[in-house]
Amino acid sequence: MSTENTRESGPRLRAVLDAPALFEPSVAPRAAGPARLLGSNESPHDPLPEIVAAMADAALYVNRYPDYGGRDLTATLSRVHGVPEDRIVPGAGSIALLQMLFQAVGEPGAEVVYAWRSFELYPVLADLAGVRSVRVPLSDGGHDLGAMAERIGDRTRMVVVCNPNNPTGTVVGHEEFAEFMLRVPSDVLVVLDEAYFEYVRDPGVVSGLVLHRRWPNLVVLRTFSKAYGLAGLRVGYLVGDPAITTRVRRAYLAYSLNTPAQAAAVRALELRERLLDRVEEAVGERTRLRDALRAAGMSVSDSQANFLWLPLGGDSAAFARRCAEDGIAVRVFPDEGVRVSIGARGDNEAFATTCERWMQHPSSDT
Ligand SMILES: Cc1ncc(COP(=O)(O)O)c(C=O)c1O
Repeated sequence: MSTENTRESGPRLRAVLDAPALFEPSVAPRAAGPARLLGSNESPHDPLPEIVAAMADAALYVNRYPDYGGRDLTATLSRVHGVPEDRIVPGAGSIALLQMLFQAVGEPGAEVVYAWRSFELYPVLADLAGVRSVRVPLSDGGHDLGAMAERIGDRTRMVVVCNPNNPTGTVVGHEEFAEFMLRVPSDVLVVLDEAYFEYVRDPGVVSGLVLHRRWPNLVVLRTFSKAYGLAGLRVGYLVGDPAITTRVRRAYLAYSLNTPAQAAAVRALELRERLLDRVEEAVGERTRLRDALRAAGMSVSDSQANFLWLPLGGDSAAFARRCAEDGIAVRVFPDEGVRVSIGARGDNEAFATTCERWMQHPSSDT
């Protein structure tokens, strides 16, 4: 047998990996002044010193593997949320947990239903898992749960509902979600992605942490990346029926949740009240910024998350360039809109000024 390599293109990897970058992160603009990072929906606050100290203490043990099941973190989450420990799986960010769910349902021919536009990583995770994406258009910027229920068929294994929706900031109400669940077959997994739940102030919004006991096919994803300000550490958690959490633990990428991250998340839960005060501040800034942009004449929808959505359509890319010239990173979805995170007061004011100037001279070429 010839040992010559007859293939011209090298090792044969999955075709999905030949696509250009599947996900482009938001980058800091190169501008004269300070970069204002409003592109990734992060907390603008430095971590609390107590959290930094917890990470530093944990760093003394990094010659050892991390606690495999994240037992301290699971126990603390259980106490804080009043949820039994066997219903909780912490992971290296909610994206990692979502990836495990995509893999868990990803047999040949499987389909996953989600709204579009929604979180950019859903199609990426679907493609990587070899699952077909069924995208259901938003209606008025929000989930059309009726249309989503209609798209559930024999091949559907999972439905993802992003609540509040990234990037539009819209929310799903408790009643409409309960009606939707009645239409979902019990062998289809429903994932409520609640990455921004702590920023919700609308009392009618569904909470997965209330409903997961009622529906064994419902799981909830929460994260420490947003309200808890730990995006760089990668910690999130999943809550759901033990029949699902047990299997997610089997699909788990071993030791992916590291020791300093676990320690920081436990400390963050202990200091929850102080961190939630920061969220309250962000909610106030959200209203202030929305009102300022509307006063400048921009169209801005109400948001229940730590960002605002500007449906600028064909002007989106030019507007984002203008923001970059002013040192402000935003997230642009060409021909659709721009998402801007709620930042520190100074950053929000700088963004409002850019918007006022934009409304006076809308094209970046003038
Ligand atoms: C809807 C949604 N889910 C999940 C995530 C990611 O969360 P994590 O940092 O926990 O992986 C994000 C981050 O932007 C998001 O917008």
